[in-house]
Amino acid sequence: MQGALCCWRSAGLRCPRGSMRGFLQLLLVTALLICWRQPHVGANSWWSLALNPVQRPEMYIIGAQPLCSQLSGLSPGQRKLCQLYQDHMVYIGEGAKTGIKECQHQFKQRRWNCSTVDNNSVFGRVMQIGSREAAFTYSISAAGVVNAISRACREGELSTCGCSRTPRPKDLPRDWLWGGCGDNVEYGYRFAKEFVDAREREKNYQKGSEDQARSLMNLQNNEAGRRAVYKLADVACKCHGVSGSCSLKTCWLQLADFRKVGEYLKEKYDSAAAMRLNRRSKLEQTNQRFNPPTADDLVYLDTSPDYCLRNETTGSLGTQGRLCNKTSEGMDGCELMCCGRGYDQFKTVQVERCHCKFHWCCFVKCKKCTEIVDQYVCK
Ligand SMILES: *[C@@H]1O[C@H](CO)[C@@H](O)[C@H](O)[C@H]1NC(C)=O
Ligand SMILES: *[C@@H]1O[C@H](CO)[C@@H](O)[C@H](O)[C@H]1NC(C)=O
Ligand SMILES: *[C@@H]1O[C@H](CO)[C@@H](O)[C@H](O)[C@H]1NC(C)=O
Ligand SMILES: *[C@@H]1O[C@H](CO)[C@@H](O)[C@H](O)[C@H]1NC(C)=O
Repeated sequence: MQGALCCWRSAGLRCPRGSMRGFLQLLLVTALLICWRQPHVGANSWWSLALNPVQRPEMYIIGAQPLCSQLSGLSPGQRKLCQLYQDHMVYIGEGAKTGIKECQHQFKQRRWNCSTVDNNSVFGRVMQIGSREAAFTYSISAAGVVNAISRACREGELSTCGCSRTPRPKDLPRDWLWGGCGDNVEYGYRFAKEFVDAREREKNYQKGSEDQARSLMNLQNNEAGRRAVYKLADVACKCHGVSGSCSLKTCWLQLADFRKVGEYLKEKYDSAAAMRLNRRSKLEQTNQRFNPPTADDLVYLDTSPDYCLRNETTGSLGTQGRLCNKTSEGMDGCELMCCGRGYDQFKTVQVERCHCKFHWCCFVKCKKCTEIVDQYVCK
């Protein structure tokens, strides 16, 4: 808690400046956080902000209920942050949505395809298993929040941050200007850390318990996700000068395309490290012969279910009815996707643009071609 507040102070944000009132507030919050224990992997999660659109705070000024009490899925600490930073909530929702969409893109050809099942728990019970898939989900949604907040700062949408203040990179050519308005990744990172991790930090698990292990796992994966956005952000430049001569350049810090973040974290998913809790109540790698994971890496505790059959207990949706690829030998191939249960074949009509011609000037005209294609779905 102390660390958190120091962090906010260095970020130049509003925070109680040593006043008695501030101290009492801090005590109160701390007490609330300690007393108010939430169920382990909350049935309710801040992820639900992605599915139930957050209205802009202005909408609530005349409304009957304040914004933060209307949002579901927030932990007590998150609700407190919501009250202090109401204008951030829309972007947290957007960030979570971006994360979920990217997750669905990266996993669309796999048995577990990151589909959401309801508004509150969002991904359903599968997240209760400390699997690789849970690791990826936590990391990509934390990354989504860093992304959305950093961009919102740059666009002037938030009252507590503006353009990035990253110092000029040393290797930037001397005659290029540094100072375009950049994405504020530093702020985005810090805010996402406070907000996303609040849920884990405010819980007070018994040392050595399964719940403590899971909490450590979540924290590590949240951090890996945030770092991915930070690491992939890069310098972007724009040319100025007479008739495009580019004699002058202005540069700034820019977020990477979120697809890149998704691909990067998918690689981390593939190389995720299996962990267990050791006697000192820290996570350690199950197989000590491998290099220990760094803060950039994803970690998991439990082996994944096979996601083949629908199972209410584990929350697996099963692959019955999923499309598969008859010729592929990968996870999207019918053999693996359908778990050996076999598949049905049917024909569908596919409409495509074809015979495209370029017309002077400047448009392209295409015809529509229909083609009958075979499709396969798992039994
Ligand atoms: C989820 O929330 C949205 C918006 O509040 C609502 O339109 C939708 O019906 C809800 N879906 C379910 C399954 O509850
Ligand atoms: C669902 O999964 C649990 C845990 O793996 C297992 O014990 C149970 O038998 C499964 N139920 C069904 C209906 O397959
Ligand atoms: C993901 O899988 C579920 C259950 O198997 C299925 O209902 C859903 O359509 C799939 N989504 C996509 C985009 O394939
Ligand atoms: C099916 O898999 C094969 C081999 O990986 C690939 O060449 C083909 O494009 C895939 N088909 C579809 C419809 O995705």
